[in-house]
Amino acid sequence: MIKKPKGTYDIYGQDAIMYNYIEEVIKNEMNINNVNYIRTPLFESRDLFHRSVGLSADIVTKESYDFTDRANRNLTLRPEATASIVRSLIENKLYSNNSNVIKYYYLGTMYRYERPGAGRNREFTQFGVEAFNSASVITDANIISMGYNILNNLGIECTVYLNTLGDEETRINYTNALKEYFKEHLDELCPDCKNRYDKNILRILDCKVDSGSELFENMPKLKDYLTIDATNKFNELKSLLNLLEIDYVYDDTIVRGLDYYTDIVYEFKSGDSLALGGGGRYDKLVENLEGPSVPATGFALGLERVMLALKDKELLSKEIDAFILSISKEEKYNALKIMNILKLNGYSVEMCDTDVSLKSQFKMADKLNSKYLIFLNDEDLNKGLVTIKDNVLKTEEKIDESEITDYFYDNL
Ligand code: HAM
Repeated sequence: MIKKPKGTYDIYGQDAIMYNYIEEVIKNEMNINNVNYIRTPLFESRDLFHRSVGLSADIVTKESYDFTDRANRNLTLRPEATASIVRSLIENKLYSNNSNVIKYYYLGTMYRYERPGAGRNREFTQFGVEAFNSASVITDANIISMGYNILNNLGIECTVYLNTLGDEETRINYTNALKEYFKEHLDELCPDCKNRYDKNILRILDCKVDSGSELFENMPKLKDYLTIDATNKFNELKSLLNLLEIDYVYDDTIVRGLDYYTDIVYEFKSGDSLALGGGGRYDKLVENLEGPSVPATGFALGLERVMLALKDKELLSKEIDAFILSISKEEKYNALKIMNILKLNGYSVEMCDTDVSLKSQFKMADKLNSKYLIFLNDEDLNKGLVTIKDNVLKTEEKIDESEITDYFYDNL
Protein backbone atom coordinates (compact mmCIF):
# COMPACT_ATOMS: atom_id res chain seq x y z
CA MET A 1 0.00 0.00 0.00
CA ILE A 2 1.32 3.44 -0.86
CA LYS A 3 1.12 5.74 2.16
CA LYS A 4 1.02 9.51 2.41
CA PRO A 5 4.39 11.22 2.87
CA LYS A 6 5.52 11.82 6.47
CA GLY A 7 4.22 15.09 7.89
CA THR A 8 1.25 15.33 5.52
CA TYR A 9 -2.36 14.39 6.22
CA ASP A 10 -5.69 13.75 4.53
CA ILE A 11 -8.69 15.76 5.61
CA TYR A 12 -12.16 14.20 5.62
CA GLY A 13 -15.23 13.57 7.80
CA GLN A 14 -15.73 15.91 10.77
CA ASP A 15 -12.31 17.49 10.17
CA ALA A 16 -13.36 18.46 6.66
CA ILE A 17 -16.56 20.05 8.01
CA MET A 18 -14.51 21.92 10.61
CA TYR A 19 -11.94 23.01 8.03
CA ASN A 20 -14.63 24.40 5.71
CA TYR A 21 -16.26 26.18 8.61
CA ILE A 22 -12.94 27.84 9.57
CA GLU A 23 -12.46 28.97 5.98
CA GLU A 24 -15.98 30.38 5.95
CA VAL A 25 -15.38 32.41 9.14
CA ILE A 26 -12.08 33.69 7.69
CA LYS A 27 -13.62 34.70 4.36
CA ASN A 28 -16.48 36.44 6.10
CA GLU A 29 -14.04 38.45 8.25
CA MET A 30 -12.04 39.37 5.14
CA ASN A 31 -15.18 40.49 3.34
CA ILE A 32 -16.36 42.77 6.12
CA ASN A 33 -12.85 44.22 6.35
CA ASN A 34 -12.68 44.81 2.62
CA VAL A 35 -9.47 42.79 2.24
CA ASN A 36 -8.83 41.39 -1.24
CA TYR A 37 -7.78 37.82 -1.98
CA ILE A 38 -4.38 37.15 -3.56
CA ARG A 39 -2.93 33.85 -4.80
CA THR A 40 0.73 33.31 -5.59
CA PRO A 41 2.60 30.17 -6.77
CA LEU A 42 3.34 27.24 -4.48
CA PHE A 43 6.98 27.43 -5.50
CA GLU A 44 9.22 30.44 -6.00
CA SER A 45 12.83 31.11 -6.86
CA ARG A 46 15.02 29.97 -3.95
CA ASP A 47 16.63 33.39 -3.86
CA LEU A 48 13.38 35.02 -2.80
CA PHE A 49 13.35 33.19 0.54
CA HIS A 50 17.08 33.56 1.08
CA ARG A 51 16.82 37.31 0.66
CA SER A 52 13.65 37.84 2.70
CA VAL A 53 13.11 35.21 5.38
CA GLY A 54 16.90 35.18 5.76
CA LEU A 55 19.89 32.92 5.94
CA SER A 56 19.71 32.59 9.70
CA ALA A 57 16.11 31.35 9.77
CA ASP A 58 15.54 27.62 10.31
CA ILE A 59 12.85 27.49 7.65
CA VAL A 60 15.48 28.46 5.08
CA THR A 61 18.57 26.72 6.44
CA LYS A 62 17.13 23.42 7.66
CA GLU A 63 13.54 23.05 6.62
CA SER A 64 13.20 24.17 3.03
CA TYR A 65 12.01 21.90 0.25
CA ASP A 66 14.50 22.86 -2.45
CA PHE A 67 14.59 21.39 -5.92
CA THR A 68 15.87 22.13 -9.37
CA ASP A 69 13.57 21.89 -12.35
CA ARG A 70 14.43 20.35 -15.70
CA ALA A 71 16.09 23.60 -16.79
CA ASN A 72 18.22 23.63 -13.63
CA ARG A 73 16.43 26.54 -11.99
CA ASN A 74 16.80 26.64 -8.19
CA LEU A 75 13.31 26.60 -6.75
CA THR A 76 11.78 26.21 -3.29
CA LEU A 77 8.32 25.12 -2.14
CA ARG A 78 7.12 28.14 -0.20
CA PRO A 79 7.69 27.84 3.57
CA GLU A 80 5.57 30.97 4.12
CA ALA A 81 3.81 33.51 1.92
CA THR A 82 4.87 36.99 3.06
CA ALA A 83 7.91 36.91 0.78
CA SER A 84 5.75 35.79 -2.16
CA ILE A 85 3.17 38.53 -1.59
CA VAL A 86 5.94 41.15 -1.49
CA ARG A 87 7.44 39.67 -4.67
CA SER A 88 4.01 39.92 -6.32
CA LEU A 89 3.45 43.46 -5.01
CA ILE A 90 6.72 44.57 -6.63
CA GLU A 91 6.41 42.55 -9.84
CA ASN A 92 2.81 43.63 -10.50
CA LYS A 93 3.32 47.17 -9.17
CA LEU A 94 0.37 46.71 -6.87
CA TYR A 95 1.60 49.61 -4.75
CA SER A 96 1.43 52.23 -7.54
CA ASN A 97 -1.02 55.17 -7.53
CA ASN A 98 -2.36 54.16 -4.20
CA SER A 99 -1.96 56.22 -1.10
CA ASN A 100 -4.37 54.21 1.00
CA VAL A 101 -3.54 51.01 2.88
CA ILE A 102 -3.34 48.06 0.47
CA LYS A 103 -4.51 44.83 2.09
CA TYR A 104 -4.38 41.28 0.78
CA TYR A 105 -5.24 37.94 2.28
CA TYR A 106 -4.15 34.45 1.25
CA LEU A 107 -5.05 30.90 2.16
CA GLY A 108 -2.89 28.03 1.06
CA THR A 109 -0.42 25.27 1.73
CA MET A 110 3.13 25.90 2.93
CA TYR A 111 6.00 23.44 3.24
CA ARG A 112 8.57 23.07 5.99
CA TYR A 113 10.71 20.00 6.61
CA GLU A 114 9.99 19.95 10.35
CA ARG A 115 9.90 17.03 12.77
CA PRO A 116 6.20 16.10 12.54
CA GLY A 117 4.08 16.22 15.68
CA ALA A 118 0.79 17.68 16.93
CA GLY A 119 0.45 21.04 15.17
CA ARG A 120 3.72 20.52 13.31
CA ASN A 121 3.35 19.28 9.75
CA ARG A 122 5.53 19.28 6.69
CA GLU A 123 2.63 20.43 4.54
CA PHE A 124 0.32 22.82 6.38
CA THR A 125 -2.14 25.60 5.62
CA GLN A 126 -1.75 29.25 6.42
CA PHE A 127 -4.24 32.06 6.24
CA GLY A 128 -2.53 35.43 6.31
CA VAL A 129 -3.12 39.15 5.84
CA GLU A 130 -0.51 41.60 4.61
CA ALA A 131 -1.02 45.38 4.66
CA PHE A 132 1.17 47.82 2.73
CA ASN A 133 1.59 51.60 2.50
CA SER A 134 1.02 52.47 6.13
CA ALA A 135 3.56 52.95 8.90
CA SER A 136 0.74 53.85 11.28
CA VAL A 137 0.23 51.88 14.47
CA ILE A 138 -3.50 52.12 13.71
CA THR A 139 -2.89 49.66 10.86
CA ASP A 140 -1.10 47.22 13.19
CA ALA A 141 -3.98 47.38 15.66
CA ASN A 142 -6.53 46.92 12.88
CA ILE A 143 -4.67 43.96 11.38
CA ILE A 144 -4.18 42.31 14.79
CA SER A 145 -7.91 42.74 15.46
CA MET A 146 -8.71 40.74 12.29
CA GLY A 147 -6.79 37.68 13.52
CA TYR A 148 -8.14 38.10 17.02
CA ASN A 149 -11.75 38.42 15.81
CA ILE A 150 -11.47 35.33 13.62
CA LEU A 151 -10.24 33.24 16.55
CA ASN A 152 -12.94 34.70 18.79
CA ASN A 153 -15.67 34.11 16.23
CA LEU A 154 -14.55 30.49 16.10
CA GLY A 155 -14.98 30.33 19.88
CA ILE A 156 -11.25 30.16 20.65
CA GLU A 157 -10.13 32.28 23.58
CA CYS A 158 -6.79 33.72 22.66
CA THR A 159 -4.21 36.18 23.93
CA VAL A 160 -1.83 38.24 21.82
CA TYR A 161 1.78 37.91 23.04
CA LEU A 162 3.32 41.20 22.07
CA ASN A 163 6.86 42.49 21.78
CA THR A 164 8.78 45.13 19.88
CA LEU A 165 12.18 44.74 18.24
CA GLY A 166 12.40 48.54 18.33
CA ASP A 167 13.58 50.82 15.55
CA GLU A 168 16.84 50.68 13.61
CA GLU A 169 18.76 52.56 16.30
CA THR A 170 17.47 50.13 18.95
CA ARG A 171 18.52 47.13 16.91
CA ILE A 172 22.00 48.47 16.13
CA ASN A 173 22.66 49.26 19.81
CA TYR A 174 21.21 46.00 21.03
CA THR A 175 23.04 43.94 18.40
CA ASN A 176 26.32 45.54 19.49
CA ALA A 177 25.54 44.85 23.15
CA LEU A 178 24.78 41.17 22.40
CA LYS A 179 27.93 40.80 20.31
CA GLU A 180 30.01 42.27 23.09
CA TYR A 181 28.36 40.07 25.72
CA PHE A 182 28.63 36.76 23.82
CA LYS A 183 32.12 37.47 22.42
CA GLU A 184 33.74 35.86 25.46
CA HIS A 185 31.32 32.92 25.54
CA LEU A 186 31.23 31.65 21.96
CA ASP A 187 32.38 28.18 23.07
CA GLU A 188 29.39 27.86 25.38
CA LEU A 189 26.87 28.43 22.58
CA CYS A 190 25.13 25.66 20.62
CA PRO A 191 26.29 25.29 16.97
CA ASP A 192 23.18 27.12 15.70
CA CYS A 193 23.76 30.09 17.98
CA LYS A 194 27.41 30.25 16.92
CA ASN A 195 26.13 30.59 13.38
CA ARG A 196 23.53 33.17 14.46
CA TYR A 197 26.27 35.19 16.19
CA ASP A 198 27.66 36.04 12.74
CA LYS A 199 24.51 36.07 10.62
CA ASN A 200 21.79 37.61 12.80
CA ILE A 201 22.58 37.67 16.48
CA LEU A 202 19.03 38.69 17.41
CA ARG A 203 17.92 35.19 16.48
CA ILE A 204 19.90 33.89 19.46
CA LEU A 205 16.93 35.01 21.55
CA ASP A 206 14.83 32.40 19.78
CA CYS A 207 17.13 29.48 20.68
CA LYS A 208 15.41 26.53 22.30
CA VAL A 209 18.69 24.79 23.20
CA ASP A 210 20.49 27.53 25.10
CA SER A 211 17.49 29.32 26.63
CA GLY A 212 17.27 28.87 30.40
CA SER A 213 21.06 28.72 30.83
CA GLU A 214 22.73 31.15 33.20
CA LEU A 215 24.51 32.74 30.25
CA PHE A 216 21.14 33.50 28.66
CA GLU A 217 19.53 34.67 31.88
CA ASN A 218 22.21 37.34 32.30
CA MET A 219 22.40 38.61 28.73
CA PRO A 220 21.48 42.23 27.90
CA LYS A 221 17.71 42.75 27.61
CA LEU A 222 16.17 44.25 24.48
CA LYS A 223 13.78 46.42 26.50
CA ASP A 224 16.75 48.31 28.02
CA TYR A 225 17.83 49.39 24.54
CA LEU A 226 14.52 50.68 23.17
CA THR A 227 14.71 54.29 21.96
CA ILE A 228 12.10 56.80 23.14
CA ASP A 229 10.45 56.67 19.70
CA ALA A 230 10.22 52.87 19.76
CA THR A 231 8.84 52.91 23.31
CA ASN A 232 6.22 55.52 22.40
CA LYS A 233 5.14 53.53 19.36
CA PHE A 234 4.83 50.36 21.40
CA ASN A 235 2.81 52.17 24.08
CA GLU A 236 0.54 53.60 21.41
CA LEU A 237 -0.13 50.08 20.08
CA LYS A 238 -0.92 48.82 23.57
CA SER A 239 -3.41 51.64 24.17
CA LEU A 240 -5.09 50.91 20.81
CA LEU A 241 -5.38 47.22 21.73
CA ASN A 242 -6.98 48.30 25.01
CA LEU A 243 -9.39 50.46 23.03
CA LEU A 244 -10.32 47.44 20.89
CA GLU A 245 -10.60 45.25 24.02
CA ILE A 246 -8.02 42.83 22.69
CA ASP A 247 -6.49 40.60 25.33
CA TYR A 248 -2.68 40.92 25.15
CA VAL A 249 0.42 40.45 27.28
CA TYR A 250 3.88 41.88 26.87
CA ASP A 251 6.37 39.08 26.23
CA ASP A 252 9.94 40.13 25.52
CA THR A 253 10.92 36.58 24.50
CA ILE A 254 8.89 36.84 21.28
CA VAL A 255 11.41 37.61 18.52
CA ARG A 256 9.96 35.43 15.71
CA GLY A 257 11.99 33.08 13.56
CA LEU A 258 12.14 35.12 10.36
CA ASP A 259 14.69 37.81 9.59
CA TYR A 260 12.48 40.44 7.98
CA TYR A 261 10.73 41.79 11.09
CA THR A 262 11.61 45.34 12.02
CA ASP A 263 9.43 46.53 14.86
CA ILE A 264 6.23 45.21 16.46
CA VAL A 265 6.06 41.39 16.63
CA TYR A 266 3.39 39.17 18.14
CA GLU A 267 1.92 35.70 18.38
CA PHE A 268 -1.65 34.50 18.92
CA LYS A 269 -1.81 31.83 21.61
CA SER A 270 -4.57 29.91 23.32
CA GLY A 271 -3.62 28.36 26.67
CA ASP A 272 -0.30 26.50 26.51
CA SER A 273 -0.73 25.55 22.86
CA LEU A 274 1.84 26.17 20.17
CA ALA A 275 1.31 29.60 18.61
CA LEU A 276 -1.86 29.62 16.48
CA GLY A 277 -0.38 32.43 14.45
CA GLY A 278 2.14 35.20 14.41
CA GLY A 279 3.20 38.32 12.64
CA GLY A 280 4.56 41.80 12.86
CA ARG A 281 6.01 44.75 10.96
CA TYR A 282 8.49 44.34 8.14
CA ASP A 283 9.04 47.89 6.90
CA LYS A 284 12.26 47.17 4.97
CA LEU A 285 11.31 44.01 3.08
CA VAL A 286 9.80 45.61 -0.03
CA GLU A 287 12.90 47.78 -0.37
CA ASN A 288 15.25 44.85 0.27
CA LEU A 289 13.62 42.95 -2.58
CA GLU A 290 14.26 45.91 -4.90
CA GLY A 291 10.87 47.53 -4.59
CA PRO A 292 10.17 51.08 -3.45
CA SER A 293 10.20 52.06 0.19
CA VAL A 294 6.82 50.71 1.34
CA PRO A 295 6.07 50.02 5.01
CA ALA A 296 4.29 46.74 5.72
CA THR A 297 2.69 44.70 8.46
CA GLY A 298 0.84 41.39 8.65
CA PHE A 299 0.29 38.01 10.27
CA ALA A 300 -0.53 34.41 9.45
CA LEU A 301 -2.57 31.77 11.27
CA GLY A 302 -1.86 28.04 10.96
CA LEU A 303 -5.17 26.34 10.20
CA GLU A 304 -4.08 22.92 11.52
CA ARG A 305 -3.31 24.48 14.89
CA VAL A 306 -6.61 26.37 14.83
CA MET A 307 -8.31 23.01 14.19
CA LEU A 308 -6.49 21.46 17.14
CA ALA A 309 -7.69 24.33 19.36
CA LEU A 310 -11.23 23.65 18.14
CA LYS A 311 -10.99 19.88 18.74
CA ASP A 312 -12.07 20.24 22.37
CA LYS A 313 -15.11 22.27 21.37
CA GLU A 314 -18.47 20.77 20.61
CA LEU A 315 -18.27 19.14 17.21
CA LEU A 316 -19.80 21.13 14.44
CA SER A 317 -22.42 19.00 12.79
CA LYS A 318 -23.59 19.21 9.25
CA GLU A 319 -27.19 20.16 8.62
CA ILE A 320 -29.25 19.94 5.46
CA ASP A 321 -32.67 21.40 4.65
CA ALA A 322 -34.38 18.26 3.38
CA PHE A 323 -33.97 14.57 2.61
CA ILE A 324 -36.23 13.00 -0.02
CA LEU A 325 -37.21 9.39 0.67
CA SER A 326 -37.91 7.24 -2.37
CA ILE A 327 -38.11 3.53 -3.23
CA SER A 328 -39.30 2.82 -6.79
CA LYS A 329 -37.48 3.98 -9.90
CA GLU A 330 -40.39 6.36 -10.64
CA GLU A 331 -40.11 7.86 -7.16
CA LYS A 332 -36.35 8.23 -7.53
CA TYR A 333 -36.69 10.06 -10.86
CA ASN A 334 -39.18 12.44 -9.23
CA ALA A 335 -36.92 12.82 -6.19
CA LEU A 336 -34.07 13.81 -8.50
CA LYS A 337 -36.30 16.38 -10.25
CA ILE A 338 -37.60 17.89 -6.97
CA MET A 339 -34.09 17.92 -5.47
CA ASN A 340 -32.81 19.83 -8.49
CA ILE A 341 -35.60 22.44 -8.26
CA LEU A 342 -34.93 22.96 -4.54
CA LYS A 343 -31.17 23.17 -5.04
CA LEU A 344 -31.63 25.75 -7.81
CA ASN A 345 -33.49 27.78 -5.19
CA GLY A 346 -30.60 27.52 -2.76
CA TYR A 347 -31.77 24.72 -0.45
CA SER A 348 -29.46 21.87 0.50
CA VAL A 349 -31.21 18.60 -0.28
CA GLU A 350 -30.20 14.94 -0.37
CA MET A 351 -31.79 11.74 -1.61
CA CYS A 352 -30.75 8.12 -1.76
CA ASP A 353 -29.70 7.12 -5.29
CA THR A 354 -29.45 3.38 -4.65
CA ASP A 355 -31.90 0.62 -3.68
CA VAL A 356 -31.95 0.66 0.11
CA SER A 357 -34.78 0.25 2.61
CA LEU A 358 -36.82 3.16 3.98
CA LYS A 359 -35.36 2.39 7.43
CA SER A 360 -31.82 2.97 6.12
CA GLN A 361 -32.93 6.17 4.39
CA PHE A 362 -34.34 7.49 7.71
CA LYS A 363 -30.94 6.81 9.27
CA MET A 364 -29.19 8.68 6.45
CA ALA A 365 -31.48 11.68 6.95
CA ASP A 366 -30.78 11.65 10.71
CA LYS A 367 -27.03 11.50 10.15
CA LEU A 368 -27.28 14.60 7.96
CA ASN A 369 -29.51 16.36 10.53
CA SER A 370 -32.14 16.98 7.89
CA LYS A 371 -34.64 19.64 8.94
CA TYR A 372 -37.39 18.23 6.72
CA LEU A 373 -38.22 14.84 5.23
CA ILE A 374 -40.02 14.61 1.90
CA PHE A 375 -41.92 11.38 1.22
CA LEU A 376 -42.75 10.34 -2.30
CA ASN A 377 -44.96 7.46 -3.31
CA ASP A 378 -46.24 6.50 -6.73
CA GLU A 379 -49.91 6.96 -5.78
CA ASP A 380 -49.46 10.54 -4.49
CA LEU A 381 -47.14 11.43 -7.36
CA ASN A 382 -49.89 10.52 -9.85
CA LYS A 383 -52.03 13.18 -8.13
CA GLY A 384 -49.11 15.63 -8.07
CA LEU A 385 -48.77 15.44 -4.27
CA VAL A 386 -45.85 15.03 -1.87
CA THR A 387 -45.74 14.66 1.93
CA ILE A 388 -43.44 16.91 3.93
CA LYS A 389 -42.52 16.23 7.54
CA ASP A 390 -41.00 18.82 9.83
CA ASN A 391 -38.32 16.69 11.45
CA VAL A 392 -38.01 18.96 14.48
CA LEU A 393 -41.69 19.64 15.30
CA LYS A 394 -42.68 16.19 13.97
CA THR A 395 -45.68 17.63 12.07
CA GLU A 396 -46.63 16.39 8.63
CA GLU A 397 -48.62 17.77 5.70
CA LYS A 398 -49.44 16.85 2.14
CA ILE A 399 -48.86 19.61 -0.42
CA ASP A 400 -49.00 20.07 -4.16
CA GLU A 401 -45.63 19.24 -5.75
CA SER A 402 -45.60 22.62 -7.53
CA GLU A 403 -45.78 24.44 -4.18
CA ILE A 404 -42.73 22.81 -2.68
CA THR A 405 -40.35 25.76 -3.19
CA ASP A 406 -42.91 28.17 -1.68
CA TYR A 407 -43.28 25.81 1.26
CA PHE A 408 -39.55 26.00 2.02
CA TYR A 409 -39.51 29.73 1.37
CA ASP A 410 -42.27 30.21 3.98
CA ASN A 411 -40.93 27.77 6.56
CA LEU A 412 -37.14 28.03 6.50
P1 HAM B 1 5.23 31.81 11.25
O1 HAM B 1 5.19 32.11 12.71
O2 HAM B 1 6.45 31.13 10.74
O3 HAM B 1 5.01 33.18 10.50
O4 HAM B 1 3.98 30.93 10.86
C1 HAM B 1 2.68 31.37 11.17
C2 HAM B 1 1.85 30.21 11.70
O5 HAM B 1 1.89 29.11 10.77
C3 HAM B 1 2.37 29.60 13.01
O6 HAM B 1 1.98 30.36 14.12
C4 HAM B 1 1.70 28.25 12.97
O7 HAM B 1 0.35 28.34 13.40
C5 HAM B 1 1.72 27.91 11.50
N1 HAM B 1 2.84 26.99 11.24
C6 HAM B 1 4.13 27.28 11.04
N2 HAM B 1 4.85 26.16 10.84
C7 HAM B 1 3.98 25.12 10.91
C8 HAM B 1 4.11 23.70 10.78
N3 HAM B 1 5.26 23.12 10.49
N4 HAM B 1 3.00 22.94 10.92
C9 HAM B 1 1.79 23.51 11.19
N5 HAM B 1 1.62 24.85 11.32
C10 HAM B 1 2.70 25.64 11.19
C11 HAM B 1 4.99 33.31 9.15
O8 HAM B 1 4.96 32.38 8.38
C12 HAM B 1 4.92 34.75 8.68
N6 HAM B 1 4.88 34.76 7.21
C13 HAM B 1 3.71 35.46 9.26
C14 HAM B 1 3.62 36.88 8.83
C15 HAM B 1 2.80 37.38 7.90
N7 HAM B 1 4.38 37.88 9.26
C16 HAM B 1 4.05 39.00 8.63
N8 HAM B 1 3.09 38.71 7.79
